[in-house]
Amino acid sequence: MEYLPISSKSLEKAAEVLRRGGIVVFPTETVYGLGADAYNSEAIVKVFEAKGRPRFDPLIVHIADVKTLEEVTMLSLLSKETRDKLFILIQKFWPGPLSLVLPKSEKIPGIATAGLSTVAVRFPAHEAAQKLISLSGGAVAAPSANPFGALSPTKAQHAQRNMGDKVDIILDGGPAKIGVESTVLDITSAGIRILRHGGIPKEEIESVIGAVEDFSFAAEDKSEGGLVSPGQLKSHYAPKTPLLVFNREDIVNLPFAADAAWLFFDDSSHNIWLEKHGGQAQKPITKVLSALGNVNKAAACLFETLHELDDFKVSKIFAQFAPQEGLGAAINDRLQRAGVR
Ligand code: TXA
Ligand code: MG
Repeated sequence: MEYLPISSKSLEKAAEVLRRGGIVVFPTETVYGLGADAYNSEAIVKVFEAKGRPRFDPLIVHIADVKTLEEVTMLSLLSKETRDKLFILIQKFWPGPLSLVLPKSEKIPGIATAGLSTVAVRFPAHEAAQKLISLSGGAVAAPSANPFGALSPTKAQHAQRNMGDKVDIILDGGPAKIGVESTVLDITSAGIRILRHGGIPKEEIESVIGAVEDFSFAAEDKSEGGLVSPGQLKSHYAPKTPLLVFNREDIVNLPFAADAAWLFFDDSSHNIWLEKHGGQAQKPITKVLSALGNVNKAAACLFETLHELDDFKVSKIFAQFAPQEGLGAAINDRLQRAGVR
């Protein structure tokens, strides 16, 4: 494995590896991806194997210009009304953290989409990612660069630690800006559905195309329905340490354990806890996601903070839900799925 900072030379080298069927960790604005040439099924198999990911969980195809959308999808299968909505979404949110589920073209091998007739496509808003994709042949299939079910990587070092021996190159582009994965939106069904909350909040999508249905993990959990997106597996995004979630109202009732760690959403929540437990002789580890309670700031450091807390080898991590607004929905989805049940 080669670990390289971003430069035109390292991007050219990584693109060459992709063209030859290798696998590369690369930065995006959401989390780091583990990419393979989206047209090469043997390369894609390597991605599933490196992650230990079940073959029924499809990958997102990353592109670096809207023209390539025509190569990887069959837009003619969409109704005119849906196509109109698609173009509005693309205009408003691409490049950016929105993955669109669309009818797949024959060019994308079935292994990439777990045999589905649809493919999730994303145009990342990250210059190095765009260059890598263009240089490599135009379409890169990439899940997040973490072992299946584990915490997502928001830094190249996270991927190096957990995947370093299984990939050909790691490109280090610094910390990911957004810090949670893309929103996955299915526009192939009659009603438009959010399959995963992520970097583009539901409210923003609704402001341009009207109401969308919430088919994300949290919504599914309450109804008794089956999994809509194969990625909606319960235990996911999980640290090795057992994680328990709580709401702001629960803080005063939380049990105290000196060998646990606490993750608070904001300073004011932390202060409520300190008032109750601050006098204890043993001081457990506490962290705050955003001092002033900004959901975007909290999202940007969520996974990094969970990685850090996991390294302390505490007995449990207690983590506070964010307000369910903006990127708070994505934060809460990740915490809920990381939690023990
Ligand atoms: O931000 C992101 O989306 C990152 C970066 C690397 O781009 N990628 C990422 O990929 O999060 P991954 O593989 O960890 O998550 C992909 C999600 C899964 O929940 C998967 O089930 C869903 O997208 N998905 C992919 N193709 C789908 C399809 N055809 N239909 C429904 N869901 C799909
Ligand atoms: Mg993932």
